[in-house]
Amino acid sequence: MYNAKAYSAASSTSPLASTTIARRDPTETDVQIEILFCGICHSDLHQVRNEWSGLMPTAYPCIPGHEIVGRVTKVGPGVTKFKEGDLAAVGCMVDSDGTCPECKAGFEQFCANGQFTYNSPDKHLGGVTYGGYSDSIVVNERFVLRVPANLDLAGTAPLLCAGITTYSPMRHWGVGKGKKVGVVGLGGLGHMGVKFAHAFGAHTVVFTTSPSKKEDALRLGADEVVISRNADEMNKHVGSLDFILDAVAAPHDINAYINLLARDGNITLVGVPETPLPVAAFGLIFKRRSFSGSLIGGIAETQEMLDFCGEHKITSDVEVIPMQKVNEAYERLLKSDVKYRFSIDMASLKG
Ligand SMILES: NC(=O)c1ccc[n+]([C@@H]2O[C@H](COP(=O)([O-])OP(=O)(O)OC[C@H]3O[C@@H](n4cnc5c(N)ncnc54)[C@H](OP(=O)(O)O)[C@@H]3O)[C@@H](O)[C@H]2O)c1
Ligand SMILES: [Zn+2]
Ligand SMILES: [Zn+2]
Repeated sequence: MYNAKAYSAASSTSPLASTTIARRDPTETDVQIEILFCGICHSDLHQVRNEWSGLMPTAYPCIPGHEIVGRVTKVGPGVTKFKEGDLAAVGCMVDSDGTCPECKAGFEQFCANGQFTYNSPDKHLGGVTYGGYSDSIVVNERFVLRVPANLDLAGTAPLLCAGITTYSPMRHWGVGKGKKVGVVGLGGLGHMGVKFAHAFGAHTVVFTTSPSKKEDALRLGADEVVISRNADEMNKHVGSLDFILDAVAAPHDINAYINLLARDGNITLVGVPETPLPVAAFGLIFKRRSFSGSLIGGIAETQEMLDFCGEHKITSDVEVIPMQKVNEAYERLLKSDVKYRFSIDMASLKG
């Protein structure tokens, strides 16, 4: 074991603060990574504040962070994919059984024996796993991703959660040329959804509660922008969208969006508000619409997404901050005051 620097929350009401944690020495198939950048996902905030206490109660101390990019510092003797000095990335998962039908089909995110990057039982050291708000991490090479050499690293980190979480459902539901696609909520996830929908060739409509984001939405690749609090603007799109990605982090009226779907249209929820969303039956039964969810993406698909981003020069729009500003960043995230993802520069943990 060795000591790593990190930022942790001691309880659901404590600010994040500097700490030292134990990490395991790399085993046979492990990769040790010096973390260079880690994105701040709204899931970090939900979990630090124990907002998912019903299904995923938070164990404290909690060290969040699952949008990790860094450089390999050491590999176990059985590692074949990476060597010291390589760029490497880690997303929301660090292990799974590798043998169940979900794992065999490439859906490690649905494995009953999976391990999330933080707040999951740690089978090596006991306690729970600790995430990327830290200067290093040790991960089984099966869960380490290759980073395209041409991308800005601060903007690459958020691809590991915000990127794959929007890429995967859009691929699954056939977003592409000839499709009219909506993205609800122009935050960390939403702005990646806009970039992917545009790159896949879909006619892309952004639904935002923030009039100030209109110009940005167009710059990010939207063809149209709707201020969702304006009923007249919303009504213009009733019954017309093939697919909608809902990436809103707070309770909101999902029925207003279901009504915008065309026949056989689908709305996929990726946002995880603290409380259930009521769904009106009539919105679904008329026009045979469907309402579904999606959780990040498997490892192979995450690599596919990173490679796609390398080819198309897609990264997240980030505001780079030092670790010491994380608590301020959380307050700003709650006010939708970030364009469009905070990325923590881990050099700030040194010294
Ligand atoms: N399914 C998965 O695998 C997965 C993965 C990662 C994250 N998530 C979840 O996805 C959600 C979004 O994460 P994020 O990191 O993108 O969050 P974020 O950056 O905070 O973005 C959320 C956006 O939702 C909109 N919004 C916020 N409050 C709202 C309200 N009261 N009513 C309507 N719209 C509101 C805002 O967009 P506008 O200003 O444009 O309205 C905001 O920018 C979180 O719940 C997170 O936990 C899920
Ligand atoms: Zn996330
Ligand atoms: Zn499995």
